[in-house]
Amino acid sequence: MVQRETWATRTGFILAAVGSAVGLGNIWRFPFVTGEGGGAAFLLVYLLFVALIGFPAILAEFVVGRKTERNPVGALMELGGSSWKYVGGVFVVTGFVILSFYSVVAGWFIRYFLEGFRGSYANLLTGYEGDAAIMFGELSTGLDAFFFHTLFMVITIGVVALGIRQGIELAVKVMVPAILILLIGMAVWAFTLPDASAGYSYYLSPEFSIIADNWATLLPAAAGQAFFTLSLGMGVMITYASYLGEDRNLTKDGVTIIGFDTGIAFLTGLVVFPVFFSAGITEPGDGGAGAIFISMTEAFATIGGGHILGLLFFGTVAIAALSSAISLLEVVTAYVIDEKGVERWKAALGMGGIIYLLGVPVTYDLIFLDLLDGFADGILLVFGALMLVILVGWITPEVAVKELEKGIGDLGGRGQAWIWAIRVPILLVLVITLYLGVDGY
Ligand code: PHE
Ligand code: NA
Repeated sequence: MVQRETWATRTGFILAAVGSAVGLGNIWRFPFVTGEGGGAAFLLVYLLFVALIGFPAILAEFVVGRKTERNPVGALMELGGSSWKYVGGVFVVTGFVILSFYSVVAGWFIRYFLEGFRGSYANLLTGYEGDAAIMFGELSTGLDAFFFHTLFMVITIGVVALGIRQGIELAVKVMVPAILILLIGMAVWAFTLPDASAGYSYYLSPEFSIIADNWATLLPAAAGQAFFTLSLGMGVMITYASYLGEDRNLTKDGVTIIGFDTGIAFLTGLVVFPVFFSAGITEPGDGGAGAIFISMTEAFATIGGGHILGLLFFGTVAIAALSSAISLLEVVTAYVIDEKGVERWKAALGMGGIIYLLGVPVTYDLIFLDLLDGFADGILLVFGALMLVILVGWITPEVAVKELEKGIGDLGGRGQAWIWAIRVPILLVLVITLYLGVDGY
């Protein structure tokens, strides 16, 4: 067997993991699910999920990957026994489902990016009765959407077929700081808007009655968003950690990845909600999948130099989406290569091709977006996280703690605390969340 690949630089793993995590989940999905969840109440539950469940769960994926040095299916079988291949199978299916709609949405970003070259966003809007929502309605389905979905999938398949890990590392080094700077700049600008304060209070001061009245839908939605945004519950972090040396402190890396991801999502909210309220949109949940496109187009149409900013913004998000899409296709491809012995380019093309076809209906009607997205986030990812928690907490706890201690040193009681958190409270929350998710689908 060939020497297994490892990351080219010490920071390669962090960068690739951040590249996978930071994507449409932060910038496209976060604002609209927060809007649908009622604003600050949703934000609170989501943040709790990230800290109390996302963090222990990301560590679980890391130790499984680094310990076994295998793709998710192989890793689960090595640790849990051969029946765990079915769980691995679910991971692969999840990758299929997510990437199919992810690519369509990423295509919208490419489309909006290119629009910026045709003149100011204000001018563009005049072609759509001056209404950014109408513009989104026309661009998000039909031939336009189909074309850019195709383009995005071709690029994603190309990168994965070539196996350019270096490419991922480089893209992330430039892209994550670029997104951060852009979002900070826009958040400062959003602060100056007339109705910014209404936006902030919607986003930041929770009404606890919303949680009390809607917990049965809020819980699975917040959990789904937490796992989706952290790329958890389908083996991305297992795969990426499988290329890792034993000297890494996995808890530190976990904090870094989660910190970046959460920071970027939070900043996006600081931009989107002031813009919405200042544009007279007081029910942000109504924006749906179009929320970010509508609010940003409004923004770029009114600020000086908006059209350069718009180009930069939509373009950067498209690149961020690419590094996430690569990680999704990489899991599926790595599985076919490792377990079925197919050549890399054939695996990438074959799997990518099927995923592409699965995404095509979304370009006809956004109802398919809701169906695929809801199924993947509310059910499949929660199921995946639950299975990992059972594996690490109940089947291989000693191995897991030992693996986590490599690169850190003796964890003492903290290792046990991690295992017990996973074993009982986290497991229970995931079971309840999964039940509610299936029930509500
Ligand atoms: N975390 C990515 C995002 O926020 C999406 C993703 C989910 C990527 C699951 C890989 C696996 O956009
Ligand atoms: Na994310």
